[in-house]
Amino acid sequence: MKSVLKPQIRSLLLVLLVSTGTAYAQAATEVEVFKSPSCGCCGKWIEHLQQNGFQVSIREVNDIPAARKKLGMPDRLGSCHTARVGDYVIEGHVPAADIQRLFKEKSQALGLAVPSMPPGSPGMGSAKPVPYDTLLVQADGSTRVFAKH
Ligand code: CU
Ligand code: CU
Repeated sequence: MKSVLKPQIRSLLLVLLVSTGTAYAQAATEVEVFKSPSCGCCGKWIEHLQQNGFQVSIREVNDIPAARKKLGMPDRLGSCHTARVGDYVIEGHVPAADIQRLFKEKSQALGLAVPSMPPGSPGMGSAKPVPYDTLLVQADGSTRVFAKH
């Protein structure tokens, strides 16, 4: 009896582990990106996300500030694209690792922003990279440095 049941239990456990892992990964890695049809660096940032395991849906919009406003991200933190990941808003060329950390830490926040388009940030390949910060943004618009790059 023992020898018959054991492999069955083992495979049941394996199925449970695999399906739980998949459900978690999907919740944390689906990104909805709002970008203008002509934006090249937006496409490069999307590739960066995909290479890091994110599933990306692209929404082509002509009015990025309007999309940003709708998601509650302040204009002064604006970049070329805005995105939604789970309950968070991600503005600009934010590194994938920062998004993953945000989910891991379950930070209380509206989301993350890399304002403007710093040369050397993901999707902004440059021979002259500059230091930049990823900001943790609250719903009231206040920010603190989340990561330094
Ligand atoms: Cu850009
Ligand atoms: Cu962009």
